[in-house]
Amino acid sequence: MNFDHPPPPREPLPVTSAQILDGKALANRLQDELKQEVYEWTQQTGQRPGLAVILVGSEPASTVYVRNKRKAAHAVGIADQLIELPAEITQAELVAHVDRLNADPQVHGILVQLPLPRHIDGELVLRRIRPEKDADGFHPMNMGLLALGTPKLVPCTPLGVRELLIRESIPTKGKTAVVMGRSNIVGKPMALLLMAKGPGGDATVTIAHTSSVDLPGICREADILVVAAGQPEIVKGSWIKPGAVVIDVGIHRLADGSLCGDVDFAEASQVASAITPVPGGVGPLTIAMLLRNTFEAARAIVHSAR
Ligand code: GUN
Repeated sequence: MNFDHPPPPREPLPVTSAQILDGKALANRLQDELKQEVYEWTQQTGQRPGLAVILVGSEPASTVYVRNKRKAAHAVGIADQLIELPAEITQAELVAHVDRLNADPQVHGILVQLPLPRHIDGELVLRRIRPEKDADGFHPMNMGLLALGTPKLVPCTPLGVRELLIRESIPTKGKTAVVMGRSNIVGKPMALLLMAKGPGGDATVTIAHTSSVDLPGICREADILVVAAGQPEIVKGSWIKPGAVVIDVGIHRLADGSLCGDVDFAEASQVASAITPVPGGVGPLTIAMLLRNTFEAARAIVHSAR
């Protein structure tokens, strides 16, 4: 994920042997491509893709994420609107906002920024979003379609990782992939994409999680290691098979203000053949895929109405 002002690195990183997979540069390229497509579509249809972002409360990290998403949407020609709601909002009031956006023909993508306050049933809110407008791809219908191998809107972070693997020509077919983390947002959909047929897929996939025995040993099997564990620098160099490709989905702010991922970058970059940095790796790709999903949703909705 993006932070506005990344602080300087904590200490000079050692000379790395791994290729650094520049997610920020790829995200910029993807956004340039999308901008052109949006422009042409708008010329043809007279419509602009529309994204509505709901932010409940004022958690600082969420506020920064939402700002970055809106800025990126605006830059590619997507009309964005922010619905800022107080943390004390009731479940019924929040659902009413989702219903209103579901019915709004100018809105093609709806995103409810997570986490939600504890008194809100997040599952219920996400299920209320019309699957056709589910820019995050979290609705059970979209998760189900992904599991069945007929995806429509796919969660943005795994989609970004797959795009990175494809665009960097990293082979996945027949490779051993390990996904660390079993969340609905990253781990599960990531594993489904890696095992799906086609580009960026066809891998043999293991999902490792907090109850797995011998995490280092499982990780060492991986040709492609995707880490979404939510623990700062948990994956050490000794956990990585020499020459593996390492994708770090984590981002954490340490006490000294610096950022790190779930992977110990200094160690891992000595062992891996390619690795994503934090920041500037997976985070910007998540945003690029959110914009792509919004545009795909707009196309499908406008096309089906014709
Ligand atoms: N909070 C952290 N990551 C995400 C994400 O991908 N989507 C939403 N809606 N909230 C998040």
